[in-house]
Amino acid sequence: MGTYAVTGAASGMGAAVAASLTEAGHTVLGIDRPGTDADIAADLSTADGRAAAASAVLERCSGRLDGAVLAAGLGPKRGQEQTILDVNVLGVTELLTAWRPALASASNAKVVVFGSNSTTSTPLVPHRAVRRLIAGDTEAAARQIRRRGQVSAPAAYAASKVAVTQWCRLHGTRPDWAGAGIRVNVLAPGPVMTPLLQSQLNSAQGKNVRSFPVPVREYGTPEQLAAWVMLMLSDSADFMCGSVITVDGGTEALLRSRDWPKPLPLRSMPKLLWRMYRAPKDGQVAQY
Ligand code: NAI
Repeated sequence: MGTYAVTGAASGMGAAVAASLTEAGHTVLGIDRPGTDADIAADLSTADGRAAAASAVLERCSGRLDGAVLAAGLGPKRGQEQTILDVNVLGVTELLTAWRPALASASNAKVVVFGSNSTTSTPLVPHRAVRRLIAGDTEAAARQIRRRGQVSAPAAYAASKVAVTQWCRLHGTRPDWAGAGIRVNVLAPGPVMTPLLQSQLNSAQGKNVRSFPVPVREYGTPEQLAAWVMLMLSDSADFMCGSVITVDGGTEALLRSRDWPKPLPLRSMPKLLWRMYRAPKDGQVAQY
């Protein structure tokens, strides 16, 4: 049985994942805000809180983590742009960076990060802000996002999820992650009935949220999404690396039917040719 860190373990999908892992006999190190019943109380919106959460897990897992599920997150709320970016981006990237050696020690560790289908269904996400977020500069990103005015909260939320998703694909395919036996993948849910979605539905934006099309005509449940996470933490995911799994009742497929899959753009060819030069000739799998 393994040891798994789960952020956002006190509510919604993080709680459902923690319950499934515990039921399967694993040890769960649950992290959530002070005042919740999580094993490790930490405010992931502050640098001190993130550092404390990272070290508490490392102390309790004795240097070996079989997996991590990053589910803590804040939904779009006007005026909270900076906090959304800090929790949703740095609450993932800083923790994973600190835990990487412990994940590598397990030789076959799995990481699942909660993205969102808002990454591909929200317009007006500033690319420069996303680049800054990937570099860890949430303050500069927040300044840019606030210029979006009325849509700054959804833009902050979508930008945070685009940034963590791209961070996972950038880092997860590198030798120190994929090459060290760590599989990093992203789950991108659509509307799932949790306190986060409920507060969106109750807010001034509730009408917009309700009018967003969901082809299967119902919201997801935390248990359905937890089942996907369990699969992504299992040996079945050994060959899965940097993937983004959208589970959203069909919204993304409806809105973006013809946008994906997309052929490789010609501008990527020089990089690809360079890789082909380095490919081994004896039938072994190429390593980068
Ligand atoms: P939730 O609100 O039920 O759970 C989120 C958890 O994160 C809560 O327990 C909360 O206390 C914790 N958290 C928030 N700020 C924190 C902080 N500063 N420090 C420590 N913990 C903090 O939400 P839900 O719906 O279960 O969300 C899980 C993940 O899925 C989030 O990353 C969310 O963005 C994402 N997501 C949710 C969707 C939905 O419709 N529910 C859709 C797409 C993505």
